[in-house]
Amino acid sequence: MVQGKWFEPGQPLEDAVLPVRRSVFGRERDSLDDESWNACVYLDGRPVAAGRIWWKEDAFWLGDIGVLEECRNQRLGDLVLRLLLFKAQSHAAREVRLFSPPDTVGFFSRLGLEAVSPAGTDPIEMAVAGSAIDLDTCKSCRKTNCPNRR
Ligand SMILES: CC(C)(COP(=O)(O)OP(=O)(O)OC[C@H]1O[C@@H](n2cnc3c(N)ncnc32)[C@H](O)[C@@H]1OP(=O)(O)O)[C@@H](O)C(=O)NCCC(=O)NCCS
Repeated sequence: MVQGKWFEPGQPLEDAVLPVRRSVFGRERDSLDDESWNACVYLDGRPVAAGRIWWKEDAFWLGDIGVLEECRNQRLGDLVLRLLLFKAQSHAAREVRLFSPPDTVGFFSRLGLEAVSPAGTDPIEMAVAGSAIDLDTCKSCRKTNCPNRR
């Protein structure tokens, strides 16, 4: 079973978010966690994916979005990104920004984020206007026999 859970700023992250962050990015808790909302996704009770969102200079920023290597390609990263974008949307975000390695730009652009830094930069800064966030899962779905389409 897949479950999502939010951790408010300053809440302990040791049992959920940090094992994922450590494994994917080699990073620990930092001062940004005192001002970030962290989202964690569990697969059969085990924390396997996480990411965080914080407010800075008129925009919501997303970061540390990662899935344990052995759990990738099961749409868990997509779920984390959607949770974070939903949080931004529900706070009437004017803009959402993040820095992406070049090889994950395609992952973020699926949900409307666009590169805003000059070509060739690494990491690549991406942004989407709050009004352009579209979490409609049907739009990118390739199923043709879904009852929702009738
Ligand atoms: C990027 C990452 C979070 C994706 O997580 P994931 O669970 O493997 O991805 P999902 O299964 O949710 O993929 C959802 C969709 O995005 C696509 N996708 C996944 N990774 C992609 C990538 N690197 N580039 C382009 N598209 C990608 C999938 O093909 C899938 O497409 P579909 O909707 O057409 O089926 C994961 O690979 C990861 O943890 N990478 C290392 C950490 C990192 O670089 N994070 C980003 C910077 S913070």
